[in-house]
Amino acid sequence: MIKYAVVGIGRMGHIHAMNLYSSMVDGATLVAVCDIDDNKLKRFKLSAPEVLTFGNYKELIAIDIDAVIVATPHYQHGEITRYFLENNISVLSEKPQCVSITESKLINECAEKSGALYGIMYNQRTNPVYARAKEIISSGLLGDIRRVEMVVTHWYRSQFYYNQGGWRASWRGEGGGILINQCVHQLDILQWLVGMPKSIRAKCKTVNRSISVENDVTAVLEYDNGAMGVFVASGHELSGTNRLEIAGSNGKIVIDDFNLKFIQYAHSEVEVNACVTAGYGEVETTVERISYSGEYRDRDEKYGQQLRVVEAFTNALSEGSQLIADGKEGINALTIINGIYLSNYINQSVEIPFDSNQYDQVLTKLKKGEEK
Ligand SMILES: NC(=O)c1ccc[n+]([C@@H]2O[C@H](COP(=O)([O-])OP(=O)(O)OC[C@H]3O[C@@H](n4cnc5c(N)ncnc54)[C@H](O)[C@@H]3O)[C@@H](O)[C@H]2O)c1
Repeated sequence: MIKYAVVGIGRMGHIHAMNLYSSMVDGATLVAVCDIDDNKLKRFKLSAPEVLTFGNYKELIAIDIDAVIVATPHYQHGEITRYFLENNISVLSEKPQCVSITESKLINECAEKSGALYGIMYNQRTNPVYARAKEIISSGLLGDIRRVEMVVTHWYRSQFYYNQGGWRASWRGEGGGILINQCVHQLDILQWLVGMPKSIRAKCKTVNRSISVENDVTAVLEYDNGAMGVFVASGHELSGTNRLEIAGSNGKIVIDDFNLKFIQYAHSEVEVNACVTAGYGEVETTVERISYSGEYRDRDEKYGQQLRVVEAFTNALSEGSQLIADGKEGINALTIINGIYLSNYINQSVEIPFDSNQYDQVLTKLKKGEEK
């Protein structure tokens, strides 16, 4: 039985803790929870009296636990993750890995040295439409990737949401806006499917909200093989879109919301272009469609897609099976996010890898700007 503690029992951590407590995860049990808010601990104790409660995460190493789920606000992810990995206790961290790639590198070094397992909550990788896209691309069916377009405008957040305050939507509280909070999921999916860009040129804006961080982003991404990508995100469109198009030399993947369409060419575009004797060209195609639906999706809607990541993490600990996402991969989406913020700030293209200290200096200035 894998013995868990959950650090941070706010909205997300409470769901993780209750799933573990109510035996939703085979082979796992909840031993303890930790939060700096004593009222949350008291409330939790009422529904789970035998679970130990702590106000300081450092005290958890004195009890018998195998793994910790870190579900605090982003700025604490790095410090808490490193503490447990250094003490050889496995960590499943909520996204984002942390706020800056300088810290991400420190965590990754620590994970390399630790004998414990490190995973990250990239639950959208369990969505069958993205998992199928990954298979199609990895198996070479799509051919060379030529163009990528991701439009993520379905994370509508009102001024009322922001007025609730707390750590959200500020440079000081979470190190950014829609990108680091919501879109980190999609940016992980993007890099998981097509790899890292070699350069980024981006503009970030704040549209119709009184917040100091962005809720509107357009980024142009360039890849090593010459492919170009466009990433668009917004949190102010009432009829938002969640769409990904990846065009390759042998076909095209279109994921619209929870539906995947894979158009596969009978001959690659290179072959078609070499043969046609007219100004235009056509090719026979086959079309595959799958949806994120049915019982699989019903379960996710009931208990949270994140439960699948906790299950996989538990199995990885007990049987050595594969993680949904290695925690060290958290640096990739974070690099794109820091790169977008840096490009916007300096109003220039950013080559990857870039100097993480340069981004840290920008972040410090952005935080200072909020003090006025
Ligand atoms: N995977 C997902 O889809 C998903 C969804 C929602 C939130 N999250 C992530 O989960 C994290 C928490 O988000 P939330 O919405 O639950 O926030 P929240 O503010 O509701 O909860 C955070 C909790 O952490 C506690 N906390 C703060 N510092 C602490 C510390 N040093 N030690 C112990 N407890 C501490 C707070 O008191 C609070 O109870 C964020 O990083 C967020 O990005 C992930």
